[in-house]
Amino acid sequence: MQISVRDYARECAEQGLRGDYSACRADFTVDQDDDYSEEDQKVWRTLCDRQMALVRRLAHRTYLDGVAALGLLDSIPDFADVGRRLQAMTGWTIVAVPGLIPAGPFFEHLANRRFPVTNWLRTQSELDYIVEPDMFHDFFGHVPILTQPAFADFMQLYGEKAQTLFDLGGGDMITRLYWYTAEYGLIGEPGEPVKAFGAGLMSSFTELSFAIEGAGANRVPFDLETVMRTGYEIDRFQRAYFVLPSFAALRQAFETADLAGIVARGKDLPPLDPAAIAGA
Ligand SMILES: [Fe+2]
Repeated sequence: MQISVRDYARECAEQGLRGDYSACRADFTVDQDDDYSEEDQKVWRTLCDRQMALVRRLAHRTYLDGVAALGLLDSIPDFADVGRRLQAMTGWTIVAVPGLIPAGPFFEHLANRRFPVTNWLRTQSELDYIVEPDMFHDFFGHVPILTQPAFADFMQLYGEKAQTLFDLGGGDMITRLYWYTAEYGLIGEPGEPVKAFGAGLMSSFTELSFAIEGAGANRVPFDLETVMRTGYEIDRFQRAYFVLPSFAALRQAFETADLAGIVARGKDLPPLDPAAIAGA
């Protein structure tokens, strides 16, 4: 059964989460704030300046093309303006949310090519680390790569199929797929160096360089079923990074796989240890 906004707001408050869910609509969207302070703007520019120095070297070119096309760097983006530019490219738009939202509404937004972006920003004292995803993670991390057509298609398909797989008992498995692609995905096209595109990497100052340049980073070829069976931890560097051969390969694998069969085979098994998955 779908959780109501009021019950979810109460749960978030009990967990000490920061978002204000009082103005949420039934689909968990809110209006974007229009009163960001000068301090907020300064934090945004600092984060962008610092991260772009790394991202220019380590991110996949389509992510960089997305940053340039959407114009994210000079000030906190206007969600509607950027959404219009994104919509003209791949049909996606952006909706504001107060923070994390339940899985059902999240999948529903993705299935309709709407990406939920948190409407508040970390503070100056949280430049290096923040527990909850904030606007910088959601916007700078996730939105630019939605200009890449095959990845944009994958994210919509993910939204369409995730609820069914969730209902089959595959919640953990489908979450791992999101984690190892949308959050921590790498891509190594034939003849090209491995680059990053996942939002958890794009919005992290330290893990991005580790994932691409770290001697100890475990980079392994992407395999859909292996990804869906591999565990992860949220509070440490990943112990495996899955490398796509192309975005089209991700879309095709997800589109054509027997996902219900993968869930049936894996849902009751203990997760694979990422550190034990052998690299190429
Ligand atoms: Fe994220």
